[in-house]
Amino acid sequence: MATVHRGSSVAGIVIDHPECARVFCDHRIDFCRRRDRSVDAACAERGLDVDVVLALLEKSIARRSGVAVPDPRAMSTAELISYIVSRHHAYLHAAFPFLDVLVGDVAREHGERNPKLLAVQRTFQELAKILQPHLYEEEGVLFPALRAELRDPRLIAAELASMEHEHDNVAVQLVCMRTLADDFTAPEWAGSSYRTLMRELAALEMNTLRHIHLETHVLMARFAA
Ligand SMILES: [Fe+2]
Ligand SMILES: [Fe+2]
Repeated sequence: MATVHRGSSVAGIVIDHPECARVFCDHRIDFCRRRDRSVDAACAERGLDVDVVLALLEKSIARRSGVAVPDPRAMSTAELISYIVSRHHAYLHAAFPFLDVLVGDVAREHGERNPKLLAVQRTFQELAKILQPHLYEEEGVLFPALRAELRDPRLIAAELASMEHEHDNVAVQLVCMRTLADDFTAPEWAGSSYRTLMRELAALEMNTLRHIHLETHVLMARFAA
């Protein structure tokens, strides 16, 4: 029997089956922001055959079958926050300096042959400009406010609105980066640093989308009301 259906929500599928994030990502279907968009509506919007996408989702669910993954819905807010910080914030804190050097080297070396690399570098810098202060704001203000015994609803509401706005901006930059980087594929003539950059940018995209999805649909959803 099918696990996912045309009417299933895209964000909900990724909560139940995190491995499906890869399928949505490869088809440029946004799973991290809009709350109740169905697979059917998302495929129609992108001009995709919904049956093909559903078959790919079922395949990735079957492939993961039996392998346990932590269910973030079962975590307390404090546990969920440490999970986000250790899995996603720590990744970004380490990835930004490394990628900044790598994207600069590749753009300098190959920018004449592929001018889109210069735009990839600018987009990466724009993304870092939004995300780096965003991480500090969450770690320094929002997360302590959510963990506090006596919560301040006005502070939390203002922080959630601001973080949500920044998530939207991050998602826009990621779409832009994927387009400029030709879906993170390297041309035939590319050397190892170019190929490493494409692989690392794809990993950055996946990690960041999963990060925003978790914050939006699990953590922030607990406080949105
Ligand atoms: Fe975060
Ligand atoms: Fe965030």
